[in-house]
Amino acid sequence: MASLTIRKLDESVKTYLRLRSARNRRSVEEEVRVILGELIEGREEPLTPFAAPPATSTAPTPQRTGAVSEASITLIIGGGIAAYKSLDLIRRLKERRIEVRCVLTKAAQQFVTPLAASALSHERVYTDLFDPQSEFDAGHIRLARECDMIVVAPATADLMAKMANGHADDLASAILLATNRKILLAPAMNPLMWNNAATRRNVAQLQRDGVVLIGPNSGEMAEAGEAGVGRMSEAVEIANAAERLLRPPVPRPLAGKRVLITAGPTHEPIDPVRFIANRSSGKQGFAIAAAAQAAGAEVILVSGPVDLADPAGVTVRHVESARQMLEQVQAALPADIAIFAAAVADWRVANEGEQKLKKTSAGMPPLQLVENPDILATISKLTDKRPPLVIGFAAETEHLIDNAKSKLARKGCDWIVANDVSPATGVMGGDRNTVHLISRQNGAKDGEIEVDSWPVMTKEQVAIELVARVATRVTDTSREPSS
Ligand code: C5P
Repeated sequence: MASLTIRKLDESVKTYLRLRSARNRRSVEEEVRVILGELIEGREEPLTPFAAPPATSTAPTPQRTGAVSEASITLIIGGGIAAYKSLDLIRRLKERRIEVRCVLTKAAQQFVTPLAASALSHERVYTDLFDPQSEFDAGHIRLARECDMIVVAPATADLMAKMANGHADDLASAILLATNRKILLAPAMNPLMWNNAATRRNVAQLQRDGVVLIGPNSGEMAEAGEAGVGRMSEAVEIANAAERLLRPPVPRPLAGKRVLITAGPTHEPIDPVRFIANRSSGKQGFAIAAAAQAAGAEVILVSGPVDLADPAGVTVRHVESARQMLEQVQAALPADIAIFAAAVADWRVANEGEQKLKKTSAGMPPLQLVENPDILATISKLTDKRPPLVIGFAAETEHLIDNAKSKLARKGCDWIVANDVSPATGVMGGDRNTVHLISRQNGAKDGEIEVDSWPVMTKEQVAIELVARVATRVTDTSREPSS
Protein backbone atom coordinates (compact mmCIF):
# COMPACT_ATOMS: atom_id res chain seq x y z
CA MET A 1 0.00 0.00 0.00
CA ALA A 2 1.21 3.54 -0.77
CA SER A 3 1.81 5.89 2.14
CA LEU A 4 0.92 9.58 2.20
CA THR A 5 3.10 12.41 3.50
CA ILE A 6 0.78 15.20 4.64
CA ARG A 7 3.67 17.70 4.59
CA LYS A 8 3.99 17.26 0.82
CA LEU A 9 0.36 18.09 0.03
CA ASP A 10 -0.71 21.38 -1.59
CA GLU A 11 -1.09 24.28 0.84
CA SER A 12 -4.82 24.52 0.07
CA VAL A 13 -5.34 20.83 0.81
CA LYS A 14 -3.32 21.11 4.01
CA THR A 15 -5.36 24.11 5.17
CA TYR A 16 -8.61 22.29 4.42
CA LEU A 17 -7.40 19.24 6.33
CA ARG A 18 -6.19 21.37 9.23
CA LEU A 19 -9.55 23.15 9.51
CA ARG A 20 -11.58 19.97 9.19
CA SER A 21 -9.48 17.92 11.60
CA ALA A 22 -9.43 20.74 14.19
CA ARG A 23 -13.17 21.05 13.96
CA ASN A 24 -13.68 17.31 14.33
CA ARG A 25 -10.95 16.98 16.96
CA ARG A 26 -9.12 14.32 15.02
CA SER A 27 -5.53 14.11 13.97
CA VAL A 28 -4.93 15.06 10.35
CA GLU A 29 -4.14 11.42 9.56
CA GLU A 30 -7.42 10.28 11.10
CA GLU A 31 -9.27 12.94 9.13
CA VAL A 32 -7.73 11.67 5.88
CA ARG A 33 -8.92 8.17 6.77
CA VAL A 34 -12.45 9.46 7.42
CA ILE A 35 -12.51 11.40 4.14
CA LEU A 36 -11.42 8.31 2.22
CA GLY A 37 -14.15 6.31 3.96
CA GLU A 38 -16.72 8.95 3.06
CA LEU A 39 -15.60 8.96 -0.56
CA ILE A 40 -15.98 5.22 -0.76
CA GLU A 41 -19.45 5.45 0.80
CA GLY A 42 -20.30 8.25 -1.64
CA ARG A 43 -21.01 10.88 1.00
CA GLU A 44 -19.02 13.94 1.96
CA GLU A 45 -19.19 15.74 5.24
CA PRO A 46 -20.23 19.43 4.90
CA LEU A 47 -17.88 21.93 6.59
CA THR A 48 -19.95 23.79 9.17
CA PRO A 49 -18.48 26.24 11.63
CA PHE A 50 -17.67 24.71 15.03
CA ALA A 51 -20.23 21.96 14.50
CA ALA A 52 -20.55 19.29 17.17
CA PRO A 53 -17.88 16.66 16.70
CA PRO A 54 -19.00 13.23 15.60
CA ALA A 55 -19.88 10.67 18.20
CA THR A 56 -16.64 8.71 17.92
CA SER A 57 -13.37 9.40 16.33
CA THR A 58 -11.85 5.96 16.40
CA ALA A 59 -13.40 4.45 13.28
CA PRO A 60 -16.10 5.24 10.73
CA THR A 61 -19.51 4.76 12.30
CA PRO A 62 -21.50 2.04 10.56
CA GLN A 63 -24.51 3.10 8.50
CA ARG A 64 -27.69 2.70 10.46
CA THR A 65 -31.30 2.55 9.59
CA GLY A 66 -33.70 4.89 11.42
CA ALA A 67 -32.54 8.25 10.08
CA VAL A 68 -33.57 10.19 13.19
CA SER A 69 -31.05 8.49 15.50
CA GLU A 70 -27.81 10.35 15.92
CA ALA A 71 -25.84 7.69 17.78
CA SER A 72 -26.17 4.13 18.94
CA ILE A 73 -25.42 2.32 22.15
CA THR A 74 -25.12 -1.34 22.99
CA LEU A 75 -26.67 -1.58 26.46
CA ILE A 76 -25.54 -4.57 28.50
CA ILE A 77 -27.94 -5.27 31.32
CA GLY A 78 -26.30 -7.22 34.14
CA GLY A 79 -28.01 -9.36 36.73
CA GLY A 80 -29.06 -7.27 39.70
CA ILE A 81 -32.19 -5.78 41.16
CA ALA A 82 -31.21 -2.41 39.62
CA ALA A 83 -31.91 -3.95 36.19
CA TYR A 84 -35.46 -2.61 36.44
CA LYS A 85 -33.96 0.92 36.17
CA SER A 86 -32.27 -0.09 32.91
CA LEU A 87 -35.67 -0.38 31.26
CA ASP A 88 -36.18 3.31 32.07
CA LEU A 89 -32.63 3.98 30.85
CA ILE A 90 -33.60 2.63 27.39
CA ARG A 91 -36.37 5.24 27.22
CA ARG A 92 -34.10 8.06 28.44
CA LEU A 93 -31.51 7.19 25.79
CA LYS A 94 -34.10 7.00 23.03
CA GLU A 95 -35.47 10.42 24.07
CA ARG A 96 -31.97 11.71 23.32
CA ARG A 97 -32.18 10.23 19.80
CA ILE A 98 -29.83 7.39 20.68
CA GLU A 99 -30.52 3.97 19.20
CA VAL A 100 -30.26 1.19 21.82
CA ARG A 101 -29.52 -2.49 21.29
CA CYS A 102 -29.81 -4.53 24.47
CA VAL A 103 -27.81 -7.51 25.63
CA LEU A 104 -29.16 -9.32 28.68
CA THR A 105 -26.92 -11.58 30.72
CA LYS A 106 -28.37 -14.84 31.97
CA ALA A 107 -28.67 -13.37 35.48
CA ALA A 108 -30.33 -10.19 34.13
CA GLN A 109 -33.16 -12.31 32.75
CA GLN A 110 -34.07 -13.20 36.34
CA PHE A 111 -34.95 -9.52 36.88
CA VAL A 112 -36.20 -8.22 33.50
CA THR A 113 -37.37 -9.98 30.39
CA PRO A 114 -35.93 -9.75 26.89
CA LEU A 115 -39.46 -8.97 25.74
CA ALA A 116 -39.64 -5.80 27.87
CA ALA A 117 -36.21 -4.63 26.67
CA SER A 118 -37.17 -5.35 23.08
CA ALA A 119 -40.52 -3.55 23.36
CA LEU A 120 -38.82 -0.43 24.74
CA SER A 121 -35.81 -0.43 22.43
CA HIS A 122 -37.77 -1.46 19.31
CA GLU A 123 -34.85 -3.74 18.54
CA ARG A 124 -34.07 -7.40 18.80
CA VAL A 125 -32.52 -8.31 22.18
CA TYR A 126 -29.40 -10.48 22.40
CA THR A 127 -28.82 -13.02 25.16
CA ASP A 128 -26.66 -15.88 23.93
CA LEU A 129 -23.08 -16.02 22.70
CA PHE A 130 -23.82 -19.25 20.87
CA ASP A 131 -27.08 -18.12 19.26
CA PRO A 132 -26.84 -19.61 15.74
CA GLN A 133 -29.04 -16.84 14.29
CA SER A 134 -26.84 -13.93 15.33
CA GLU A 135 -23.49 -15.72 15.49
CA PHE A 136 -23.45 -16.93 11.87
CA ASP A 137 -21.85 -13.54 11.10
CA ALA A 138 -19.98 -13.08 14.40
CA GLY A 139 -22.80 -11.21 16.11
CA HIS A 140 -20.82 -10.46 19.27
CA ILE A 141 -18.22 -8.64 17.20
CA ARG A 142 -20.93 -6.62 15.48
CA LEU A 143 -22.59 -5.76 18.80
CA ALA A 144 -19.17 -4.69 20.08
CA ARG A 145 -18.33 -2.47 17.11
CA GLU A 146 -21.52 -1.38 15.36
CA CYS A 147 -22.28 1.18 18.00
CA ASP A 148 -20.76 4.40 19.24
CA MET A 149 -20.52 3.31 22.84
CA ILE A 150 -21.22 0.45 25.25
CA VAL A 151 -23.10 1.06 28.49
CA VAL A 152 -23.22 -1.58 31.19
CA ALA A 153 -26.08 -1.01 33.62
CA PRO A 154 -26.21 -2.48 36.12
CA ALA A 155 -22.53 -3.39 36.13
CA THR A 156 -22.36 -6.16 38.70
CA ALA A 157 -19.26 -7.06 40.71
CA ASP A 158 -19.00 -10.26 38.69
CA LEU A 159 -19.20 -8.52 35.32
CA MET A 160 -16.56 -6.00 36.35
CA ALA A 161 -14.30 -8.79 37.59
CA LYS A 162 -14.64 -10.53 34.24
CA MET A 163 -13.90 -7.32 32.37
CA ALA A 164 -10.89 -6.46 34.49
CA ASN A 165 -9.44 -9.89 33.82
CA GLY A 166 -10.35 -10.24 30.15
CA HIS A 167 -12.84 -13.09 30.39
CA ALA A 168 -15.10 -13.80 27.43
CA ASP A 169 -17.22 -16.79 28.35
CA ASP A 170 -20.64 -15.27 27.69
CA LEU A 171 -22.09 -12.75 25.24
CA ALA A 172 -21.70 -9.68 27.51
CA SER A 173 -18.07 -10.32 28.44
CA ALA A 174 -17.18 -11.30 24.85
CA ILE A 175 -18.61 -8.00 23.59
CA LEU A 176 -16.74 -6.02 26.24
CA LEU A 177 -13.48 -7.74 25.30
CA ALA A 178 -14.03 -7.34 21.55
CA THR A 179 -14.95 -3.65 21.50
CA ASN A 180 -12.88 -0.63 20.58
CA ARG A 181 -15.64 1.78 21.66
CA LYS A 182 -15.92 3.83 24.83
CA ILE A 183 -17.38 1.91 27.76
CA LEU A 184 -19.54 3.43 30.49
CA LEU A 185 -20.25 1.33 33.58
CA ALA A 186 -23.02 2.00 36.08
CA PRO A 187 -22.04 -0.26 38.99
CA ALA A 188 -24.70 -1.60 41.33
CA MET A 189 -24.03 -3.93 44.22
CA ASN A 190 -24.16 -4.33 47.95
CA PRO A 191 -21.87 -1.83 49.79
CA LEU A 192 -19.76 -4.65 51.19
CA MET A 193 -19.17 -6.01 47.69
CA TRP A 194 -18.33 -2.50 46.42
CA ASN A 195 -15.83 -2.00 49.23
CA ASN A 196 -14.32 -5.46 48.96
CA ALA A 197 -10.60 -5.39 48.15
CA ALA A 198 -11.18 -7.49 45.01
CA THR A 199 -13.77 -5.05 43.64
CA ARG A 200 -11.50 -2.08 44.52
CA ARG A 201 -8.69 -3.72 42.52
CA ASN A 202 -10.99 -4.41 39.58
CA VAL A 203 -12.38 -0.86 39.55
CA ALA A 204 -8.86 0.59 39.63
CA GLN A 205 -7.81 -1.70 36.77
CA LEU A 206 -10.86 -0.79 34.67
CA GLN A 207 -10.21 2.92 35.19
CA ARG A 208 -6.61 2.43 34.08
CA ASP A 209 -7.99 0.69 30.98
CA GLY A 210 -9.98 3.84 30.13
CA VAL A 211 -13.40 2.62 31.22
CA VAL A 212 -15.65 5.40 32.58
CA LEU A 213 -17.79 4.87 35.68
CA ILE A 214 -20.94 6.65 36.77
CA GLY A 215 -21.89 6.11 40.41
CA PRO A 216 -22.64 4.11 42.37
CA ASN A 217 -24.68 6.41 44.61
CA SER A 218 -25.19 5.93 48.28
CA GLY A 219 -28.57 5.08 49.73
CA GLU A 220 -30.77 2.24 50.82
CA MET A 221 -30.17 -1.20 49.40
CA ALA A 222 -32.74 -3.73 48.26
CA GLU A 223 -31.62 -5.85 51.19
CA ALA A 224 -33.74 -4.85 54.18
CA GLY A 225 -32.01 -2.48 56.58
CA GLU A 226 -28.82 -2.08 54.53
CA ALA A 227 -27.51 1.24 53.26
CA GLY A 228 -24.27 2.63 51.89
CA VAL A 229 -22.49 3.18 48.56
CA GLY A 230 -23.68 0.73 45.92
CA ARG A 231 -26.98 1.96 44.47
CA MET A 232 -26.96 2.24 40.70
CA SER A 233 -27.17 5.83 39.40
CA GLU A 234 -30.59 6.92 38.24
CA ALA A 235 -31.50 6.38 34.59
CA VAL A 236 -31.36 10.12 33.83
CA GLU A 237 -27.89 10.41 35.37
CA ILE A 238 -26.62 7.50 33.27
CA ALA A 239 -28.24 8.85 30.09
CA ASN A 240 -26.69 12.29 30.71
CA ALA A 241 -23.27 10.75 31.29
CA ALA A 242 -23.62 8.70 28.10
CA GLU A 243 -24.64 11.79 26.16
CA ARG A 244 -21.67 13.77 27.49
CA LEU A 245 -19.32 11.00 26.38
CA LEU A 246 -20.97 10.72 22.97
CA ARG A 247 -21.21 14.43 22.34
CA PRO A 248 -18.41 16.21 24.16
CA PRO A 249 -18.99 19.96 24.53
CA VAL A 250 -18.09 22.00 21.47
CA PRO A 251 -15.04 24.21 22.04
CA ARG A 252 -16.06 27.84 22.68
CA PRO A 253 -12.79 29.76 22.56
CA LEU A 254 -14.52 33.16 22.41
CA ALA A 255 -16.82 32.59 25.40
CA GLY A 256 -17.11 35.79 27.41
CA LYS A 257 -15.90 37.98 24.51
CA ARG A 258 -18.01 40.62 22.82
CA VAL A 259 -17.49 40.84 19.07
CA LEU A 260 -18.76 43.74 16.96
CA ILE A 261 -19.05 43.16 13.21
CA THR A 262 -20.17 45.33 10.30
CA ALA A 263 -21.38 43.76 7.07
CA GLY A 264 -23.04 44.46 3.76
CA PRO A 265 -23.16 47.62 1.67
CA THR A 266 -24.54 50.97 2.72
CA HIS A 267 -27.21 52.83 0.77
CA GLU A 268 -26.65 56.55 0.47
CA PRO A 269 -29.84 58.36 -0.52
CA ILE A 270 -29.96 60.66 -3.55
CA ASP A 271 -33.64 61.39 -3.07
CA PRO A 272 -36.52 59.48 -1.40
CA VAL A 273 -36.43 56.73 -4.06
CA ARG A 274 -32.83 56.56 -5.31
CA PHE A 275 -29.56 55.71 -3.62
CA ILE A 276 -25.87 55.07 -4.23
CA ALA A 277 -24.87 51.49 -3.38
CA ASN A 278 -22.35 48.77 -4.22
CA ARG A 279 -22.43 45.06 -4.99
CA SER A 280 -21.54 43.77 -1.52
CA SER A 281 -23.76 40.82 -0.51
CA GLY A 282 -22.81 40.83 3.19
CA LYS A 283 -22.10 37.06 3.01
CA GLN A 284 -18.56 37.30 4.40
CA GLY A 285 -19.53 39.49 7.36
CA PHE A 286 -22.55 37.31 8.15
CA ALA A 287 -20.39 34.17 7.99
CA ILE A 288 -17.93 35.76 10.44
CA ALA A 289 -20.81 36.66 12.77
CA ALA A 290 -22.08 33.06 12.68
CA ALA A 291 -18.58 31.64 13.27
CA ALA A 292 -17.91 34.01 16.18
CA GLN A 293 -21.28 33.12 17.71
CA ALA A 294 -20.54 29.42 17.32
CA ALA A 295 -17.19 30.03 19.03
CA GLY A 296 -19.09 31.31 22.06
CA ALA A 297 -18.85 35.08 21.57
CA GLU A 298 -21.62 37.58 22.17
CA VAL A 299 -21.98 39.04 18.67
CA ILE A 300 -23.45 42.37 17.56
CA LEU A 301 -23.77 42.60 13.81
CA VAL A 302 -24.43 46.00 12.26
CA SER A 303 -25.63 45.31 8.75
CA GLY A 304 -26.41 47.42 5.74
CA PRO A 305 -29.27 46.34 3.43
CA VAL A 306 -28.71 42.68 2.49
CA ASP A 307 -30.77 39.75 1.35
CA LEU A 308 -29.65 37.38 4.12
CA ALA A 309 -31.37 35.90 7.16
CA ASP A 310 -30.10 37.13 10.52
CA PRO A 311 -27.64 34.55 11.92
CA ALA A 312 -29.12 32.64 14.88
CA GLY A 313 -28.03 33.87 18.28
CA VAL A 314 -26.59 37.13 16.95
CA THR A 315 -27.91 40.61 17.81
CA VAL A 316 -28.43 42.32 14.46
CA ARG A 317 -28.83 46.09 13.98
CA HIS A 318 -30.14 46.89 10.50
CA VAL A 319 -29.07 50.22 9.00
CA GLU A 320 -29.11 51.91 5.60
CA SER A 321 -26.45 54.57 5.47
CA ALA A 322 -22.83 54.93 6.62
CA ARG A 323 -23.79 57.52 9.21
CA GLN A 324 -26.40 55.19 10.71
CA MET A 325 -23.83 52.38 10.69
CA LEU A 326 -21.32 54.51 12.62
CA GLU A 327 -24.01 55.47 15.12
CA GLN A 328 -24.89 51.82 15.80
CA VAL A 329 -21.23 50.80 16.00
CA GLN A 330 -20.53 53.51 18.57
CA ALA A 331 -23.62 52.50 20.53
CA ALA A 332 -22.43 48.87 20.59
CA LEU A 333 -19.08 49.68 22.25
CA PRO A 334 -17.29 48.52 24.31
CA ALA A 335 -16.25 45.36 22.49
CA ASP A 336 -13.26 43.03 22.77
CA ILE A 337 -12.96 42.55 19.03
CA ALA A 338 -14.28 44.66 16.14
CA ILE A 339 -14.35 43.31 12.60
CA PHE A 340 -15.32 45.80 9.90
CA ALA A 341 -16.35 43.77 6.87
CA ALA A 342 -18.94 46.23 5.52
CA ALA A 343 -18.42 47.80 2.11
CA VAL A 344 -19.24 51.28 3.33
CA ALA A 345 -19.91 53.84 0.60
CA ASP A 346 -17.07 56.35 0.61
CA TRP A 347 -19.30 59.22 -0.41
CA ARG A 348 -22.85 60.38 0.11
CA VAL A 349 -24.92 63.03 -1.61
CA ALA A 350 -24.67 66.33 0.24
CA ASN A 351 -27.70 67.86 -1.41
CA GLU A 352 -30.09 64.91 -0.94
CA GLY A 353 -33.39 65.73 -2.62
CA GLU A 354 -36.37 65.99 -0.31
CA GLN A 355 -38.62 65.08 -3.24
CA LYS A 356 -37.94 62.76 -6.16
CA LEU A 357 -35.61 64.55 -8.57
CA LYS A 358 -37.32 65.33 -11.90
CA LYS A 359 -35.89 65.25 -15.41
CA THR A 360 -35.77 68.81 -16.65
CA SER A 361 -34.64 70.52 -19.81
CA ALA A 362 -31.83 72.05 -17.72
CA GLY A 363 -29.99 68.69 -17.95
CA MET A 364 -28.76 66.39 -15.21
CA PRO A 365 -29.18 67.47 -11.59
CA PRO A 366 -25.84 68.42 -10.04
CA LEU A 367 -25.05 65.90 -7.30
CA GLN A 368 -22.57 67.10 -4.72
CA LEU A 369 -20.73 64.31 -2.99
CA VAL A 370 -19.23 64.55 0.47
CA GLU A 371 -17.08 62.02 2.21
CA ASN A 372 -18.70 59.61 4.64
CA PRO A 373 -17.25 59.04 8.08
CA ASP A 374 -14.66 56.25 8.03
CA ILE A 375 -16.01 53.89 10.66
CA LEU A 376 -12.93 51.65 10.81
CA ALA A 377 -10.54 54.60 11.18
CA THR A 378 -12.79 56.32 13.72
CA ILE A 379 -12.97 53.27 15.97
CA SER A 380 -9.27 52.37 15.50
CA LYS A 381 -8.25 55.83 16.66
CA LEU A 382 -10.42 55.93 19.76
CA THR A 383 -8.43 56.35 22.92
CA ASP A 384 -10.88 55.20 25.55
CA LYS A 385 -13.20 52.62 24.04
CA ARG A 386 -10.95 51.19 21.32
CA PRO A 387 -11.51 47.43 21.12
CA PRO A 388 -8.21 45.63 21.84
CA LEU A 389 -8.34 43.95 18.42
CA VAL A 390 -9.61 45.90 15.40
CA ILE A 391 -9.77 44.20 12.01
CA GLY A 392 -10.55 45.87 8.70
CA PHE A 393 -11.10 44.54 5.21
CA ALA A 394 -9.49 45.78 2.03
CA ALA A 395 -11.39 44.98 -1.13
CA GLU A 396 -9.09 45.92 -3.99
CA THR A 397 -9.03 45.45 -7.73
CA GLU A 398 -5.27 46.11 -8.13
CA HIS A 399 -2.03 46.23 -6.09
CA LEU A 400 -3.85 44.25 -3.42
CA ILE A 401 -1.07 43.72 -0.88
CA ASP A 402 0.50 47.17 -1.20
CA ASN A 403 -2.84 48.92 -0.90
CA ALA A 404 -3.79 46.75 2.07
CA LYS A 405 -0.50 47.46 3.84
CA SER A 406 -0.93 51.20 3.48
CA LYS A 407 -4.56 50.86 4.63
CA LEU A 408 -3.36 49.13 7.79
CA ALA A 409 -1.17 52.13 8.59
CA ARG A 410 -3.66 54.79 7.49
CA LYS A 411 -6.66 53.39 9.35
CA GLY A 412 -4.75 52.40 12.49
CA CYS A 413 -6.26 48.92 12.77
CA ASP A 414 -4.42 45.76 13.88
CA TRP A 415 -5.18 43.41 11.02
CA ILE A 416 -6.43 43.81 7.46
CA VAL A 417 -8.11 41.01 5.57
CA ALA A 418 -7.30 41.83 1.95
CA ASN A 419 -9.24 40.35 -0.95
CA ASP A 420 -9.19 40.84 -4.68
CA VAL A 421 -12.65 41.87 -5.83
CA SER A 422 -11.95 42.33 -9.54
CA PRO A 423 -15.02 41.08 -11.46
CA ALA A 424 -13.07 38.05 -12.77
CA THR A 425 -12.67 36.69 -9.20
CA GLY A 426 -16.45 36.51 -8.62
CA VAL A 427 -15.85 37.39 -4.94
CA MET A 428 -18.44 40.19 -4.82
CA GLY A 429 -21.73 38.39 -4.26
CA GLY A 430 -20.09 34.96 -4.73
CA ASP A 431 -19.55 32.17 -2.20
CA ARG A 432 -15.78 31.87 -2.31
CA ASN A 433 -12.99 34.18 -1.30
CA THR A 434 -9.20 34.34 -1.55
CA VAL A 435 -7.77 36.42 1.25
CA HIS A 436 -4.46 37.60 2.64
CA LEU A 437 -4.22 38.38 6.34
CA ILE A 438 -2.01 41.39 6.89
CA SER A 439 -0.90 42.09 10.43
CA ARG A 440 1.82 43.79 12.38
CA GLN A 441 4.21 41.29 13.89
CA ASN A 442 3.72 41.03 17.66
CA GLY A 443 0.96 43.61 17.30
CA ALA A 444 3.51 46.44 17.72
CA LYS A 445 2.64 49.72 16.00
CA ASP A 446 5.92 49.95 14.10
CA GLY A 447 6.46 46.19 13.90
CA GLU A 448 7.28 44.36 10.70
CA ILE A 449 4.24 43.60 8.58
CA GLU A 450 3.33 39.96 8.08
CA VAL A 451 1.39 38.77 5.03
CA ASP A 452 -0.33 35.41 5.32
CA SER A 453 -1.95 34.28 2.05
CA TRP A 454 -4.75 31.75 2.40
CA PRO A 455 -5.91 29.39 -0.34
CA VAL A 456 -9.28 29.79 -2.06
CA MET A 457 -11.95 28.94 0.48
CA THR A 458 -15.68 29.34 0.90
CA LYS A 459 -16.67 32.45 2.81
CA GLU A 460 -17.69 30.17 5.71
CA GLN A 461 -14.22 28.62 5.79
CA VAL A 462 -12.59 32.06 5.72
CA ALA A 463 -14.85 33.02 8.63
CA ILE A 464 -13.93 29.91 10.66
CA GLU A 465 -10.22 30.42 10.03
CA LEU A 466 -10.40 34.13 10.89
CA VAL A 467 -12.30 33.41 14.10
CA ALA A 468 -9.76 30.71 15.00
CA ARG A 469 -6.93 33.24 14.55
CA VAL A 470 -8.82 35.84 16.57
CA ALA A 471 -9.35 33.28 19.35
CA THR A 472 -5.63 32.45 19.39
CA ARG A 473 -4.74 36.14 19.49
CA VAL A 474 -7.13 37.17 22.25
CA THR A 475 -6.22 34.23 24.45
CA ASP A 476 -2.48 34.79 23.90
CA THR A 477 -1.72 37.27 26.67
CA SER A 478 1.94 37.53 25.68
CA ARG A 479 0.93 39.72 22.70
CA GLU A 480 0.35 43.40 23.22
CA PRO A 481 -2.33 45.22 21.22
CA SER A 482 -1.12 48.04 18.99
CA SER A 483 -2.48 50.91 21.04
O1 C5P B 1 -10.99 52.61 2.46
P1 C5P B 1 -11.67 51.33 2.19
O2 C5P B 1 -13.16 51.48 1.96
O3 C5P B 1 -11.05 50.49 1.14
O4 C5P B 1 -11.48 50.51 3.54
C1 C5P B 1 -12.06 49.29 3.75
C2 C5P B 1 -12.19 49.02 5.21
O5 C5P B 1 -12.63 50.16 5.89
C3 C5P B 1 -13.27 47.99 5.48
O6 C5P B 1 -12.92 47.33 6.67
C4 C5P B 1 -14.51 48.84 5.65
O7 C5P B 1 -15.49 48.17 6.43
C5 C5P B 1 -13.95 50.04 6.37
N1 C5P B 1 -14.62 51.29 6.08
C6 C5P B 1 -15.39 51.88 7.06
N2 C5P B 1 -15.98 53.07 6.80
C7 C5P B 1 -15.86 53.67 5.62
C8 C5P B 1 -15.09 53.07 4.61
C9 C5P B 1 -14.49 51.87 4.87
O8 C5P B 1 -15.52 51.31 8.13
N3 C5P B 1 -16.45 54.84 5.40
